[in-house]
Amino acid sequence: MVSGGQQQEEAHVAVLAFPFGTHAAPLHALARGLAAAAPLVWFSFFNSAKSNASLLQGGDAPPNLKFYDVSDGLTAGFAVNPRNPEEEIELFMQVTPGNFRDGIEKAVRSASGASISCVVSDAFLWFAGDLAREMGAGVPWVPLWTGGIRSLSAHIYTDALRTIVGVGEEGGAVMATKADTELGFLPGMSGTRVRDLPEGIVFGNLSSVFARLLHRMGQELPLATAVVLNTFDVLDPAINDDLRAKFKACHLVGPLNLLLPPPQHPELDSDPSGCLRWLDKLPRGAVAYVSFGTVMSPPPGELAELAEGLESCGAPFLWSLKEKLRARLPAGFLERTQARGLVVAWAPQPLVLAHPATGAFMTHCGWNSVMESLAGGVPMVCRPFLGDQRLNARTVASLWRVGVEFEAGKMTRDGVVGALGAVLGSEEGRKMRERACALGEAAREAVQQGGSSAEALQAVVKVICGSGDA
Ligand SMILES: *[C@@H]1O[C@H](CO)[C@@H](O)[C@H](O)[C@H]1NC(C)=O
Ligand SMILES: *[C@@H]1O[C@H](CO)[C@@H](O)[C@H](O)[C@H]1NC(C)=O
Repeated sequence: MVSGGQQQEEAHVAVLAFPFGTHAAPLHALARGLAAAAPLVWFSFFNSAKSNASLLQGGDAPPNLKFYDVSDGLTAGFAVNPRNPEEEIELFMQVTPGNFRDGIEKAVRSASGASISCVVSDAFLWFAGDLAREMGAGVPWVPLWTGGIRSLSAHIYTDALRTIVGVGEEGGAVMATKADTELGFLPGMSGTRVRDLPEGIVFGNLSSVFARLLHRMGQELPLATAVVLNTFDVLDPAINDDLRAKFKACHLVGPLNLLLPPPQHPELDSDPSGCLRWLDKLPRGAVAYVSFGTVMSPPPGELAELAEGLESCGAPFLWSLKEKLRARLPAGFLERTQARGLVVAWAPQPLVLAHPATGAFMTHCGWNSVMESLAGGVPMVCRPFLGDQRLNARTVASLWRVGVEFEAGKMTRDGVVGALGAVLGSEEGRKMRERACALGEAAREAVQQGGSSAEALQAVVKVICGSGDA
């Protein structure tokens, strides 16, 4: 490490992305925010070419943030096998950490030899702590956990859960007998159940690549210099306190979408399908916004049930649905609902959720979506699929009480009508909206100057500049 006045000029932060799903986006936001706050520090962002291409670049990109492609381990012409979607991740993990090491060598050369003084990574990259140590004694490792806070807790306590609950294979003993067992024996987890856990902890395939990766992550994160979380102080105090005790340092900088808004490309229309102009014409809190994110889509039968439910419920709706899934809509659906429904291939989600006409968000409960919904004060109708989504949905519906879940976890026509009726048209729905708005207000306070998340970001800046006590 260099010393004294030279320190800042020589600092060089390696930022390591997990190039799947929407993981790289919040890390990119964090990197941009840090680069803007520390203009004398070099930032090198390592990502696969495919994931890099999906990031919104443009806007006022900080000049001290450079991008480098790393290998994703796939051979040319690789196609995802729908029966083994994890294969891609497995192949990527096989070429780590060598691919990142190669990228870092290149970046050090183009930064006039400035060696790596800090490693920031997606928390999934559990080996990044070793990589930081390889870069030099005292080089901090600062992982960002991008998912729900309760699932992070589940990964930290995986060994305890396996001992207390027991383990079983998919469809096996655990889900048959313990699905409704409450997890209140862990700090801040009361009200959640075994069935809400991510797969690979006590049920599902415990030896899958993903399950092993997350188990290992749970063991490594307590060794990190500081863990960064996309949440804010008042949301889940009991879990936050417990994680603060578990980690060497823990900085709550969320919601990242408010703290570090996504870059706007000056030449791109942020509303290509006219969603916002359409919403402008509708009454306050009237519209159901439907989107399951860029990765998930409901199975064909459920998609049809959802369409029928939207048609029967009578509320105006905005549905962000991939072009190729349109063919699965019931015959004549688009024509029959034309007067009060808009189906688009892409919607500017944070702006839609911030629009006063939006009154309900039907969501897979990915954490970014949940944070954006709270920021907009919009109650949720939850249809989780995998990973942290079930715990997120349970948190939304039963703990924060800003939404509803579907009975038996799946959408039916009547379930959709009932859920939207409850959120958009009932007294309880009004209270959900009030609670969501209060949390949104708290989120805005947290990211304002002097707020807890803004202060936490400053603490992260100190860590990466080598001047913080973490
Ligand atoms: C990352 O993607 C952007 C376009 O979105 C491109 O300008 C840039 O060159 C890419 N970086 C690398 C290293 O490929
Ligand atoms: C569980 O995952 C491992 C590792 O990917 C795989 O070899 C095994 O076949 C999987 N088991 C089941 C039951 O799918």
